[in-house]
Amino acid sequence: LGCGLDTRIFRVDPPPWVDWFDIDYPEVIELRRKLYPSRDHYHLIASSVTEPGWLADVPRNRLAIVVAEGLTPYLPADEGLRLLSRLVSHLA
Ligand SMILES: C[S@@+](CC[C@H](N)C(=O)[O-])C[C@H]1O[C@@H](n2cnc3c(N)ncnc32)[C@H](O)[C@@H]1O
Repeated sequence: LGCGLDTRIFRVDPPPWVDWFDIDYPEVIELRRKLYPSRDHYHLIASSVTEPGWLADVPRNRLAIVVAEGLTPYLPADEGLRLLSRLVSHLA
């Protein structure tokens, strides 16, 4: 969440049974698309994390690791808590 230009997807190089979702504001995702190659099972979501709709693109009830490095300082506390609550409800 709030992936910025982080290259973790390429450094971790997850196996094909892992679906990986990176989300950030549309202008950041547009820049990522220009700079980095696409790959199978890798999904970019162009949205604010505070918009509830983006989770519809993420499968429900799959085991998940959520990484939000450097994101929470940008979120008002109530938005951050709502985000965590939506994630816990959506994911296994
Ligand atoms: C300090 S950078 C960290 C980037 C990356 N996680 C890293 O560790 O290199 C914070 C990132 O959070 C994103 N961000 C801040 N608020 C956001 C929001 N409401 N929705 C989506 N992304 C957000 C910014 O656009 C920026 O890319």
